Amino acid sequence: MPTILLTGATGYIASHTWLALLAAGYDVVGLDDFSNSSPEVLKRLAELSGRELVFVQADVNDRAALDAVFAAHEIAAVMHFAAFKAVGESTAQPLKYYANNLGGLVNMLQAMGRAGVKTFVFSSSATVYGEPQFLPYTEAHPLAAMNVYGRTKLMGEQILRDLEAAEPDWRIGWLRYFNPVGAHESGRIGEDPQGIPNNLMPFVQQVAVGRREFLSVFGGDYDTPDGTGVRDYLHVMDLAEGHVAALRYLLEKQASVTVNLGTGVGYSVLDLVNAFSRAAGKPIPYKIVDRRPGDLPSYYADATLAKSLLGWEATRSLDDMCAHSWRWASGNPRGYAA
Ligand code: WQD
Repeated sequence: MPTILLTGATGYIASHTWLALLAAGYDVVGLDDFSNSSPEVLKRLAELSGRELVFVQADVNDRAALDAVFAAHEIAAVMHFAAFKAVGESTAQPLKYYANNLGGLVNMLQAMGRAGVKTFVFSSSATVYGEPQFLPYTEAHPLAAMNVYGRTKLMGEQILRDLEAAEPDWRIGWLRYFNPVGAHESGRIGEDPQGIPNNLMPFVQQVAVGRREFLSVFGGDYDTPDGTGVRDYLHVMDLAEGHVAALRYLLEKQASVTVNLGTGVGYSVLDLVNAFSRAAGKPIPYKIVDRRPGDLPSYYADATLAKSLLGWEATRSLDDMCAHSWRWASGNPRGYAA
């Protein structure tokens, strides 16, 4: 079976995708520089897969290291997860984000060109849709970025559109993630952000294990059913399987594709908090505070195109997302730290 290069391979989404690719029969070469992930993930993946892993510690900005990977392995496609993703940090440190998210992307694409590898899956994000002009977001929704992180995703998409126009033999998947949450059902791998979590689910996880005193709910006065923000939460294993479906499409159909990867269902902050409380069998203390600047009240996916083109749809429920998150958090209260 084809060998797939995963960048950002020990990160949250890539590590779950690694397992899904192995389960689908692909071979995998993982690449990461551990700038935002732990080497412990490799031990967990070997344990879960029962496989010897092929891994390279390298920075996607290291041209020679990438050329060496393509020389040593017959890579059929690249899934590019290596990017920083903290919205607030991106505003404070824009050059760090442009250098890594866009510089790394261009460097990878150039290395692929030198090696003659032209099948590429890009981790994009619903953030490229900006303020909703209609909901649910379809792939035809106008594009606009609202922060530096979002601009690195939008510019990344546009770099790939220009590449495809110049060299139509590239096969590119633009995958627009909604809100990935949850963990592998084993609870042995999961989301382990460094520092104070920006995102809702990892913060709830840390409250549940006693690392944080309470959750601050950013705004209770939105025009939503319970006044709190609504998002399209997607189980990370559904997202991983969506990547396998997209890869199969690129390799078999010899065509490019842009799809939303979401459930099509919006849940509020309090919906998620209540579901997590059920999973953990304990209350999650929270306080409703001011809105977070830049937050949108509500967004969720039109997920029908991924279903019709890729034959993929999310199958795991919000309760599954919370049960698996709790299994990960309760079994690893300090994440991957010993
Ligand atoms: C979800 C909801 C918050 C934290 C961002 C990026 C997106 C993607 C996912 C990378 C909102 C509320 C959150 C907290 C809260 N990033 N919240 N208290 O902002 O929808 O999306 O992360 O791939 O591109 O834009 O995700 O998890 O930060 O927030 O009340 O401590 O939870 O207001 O309604 P978001 P989030």
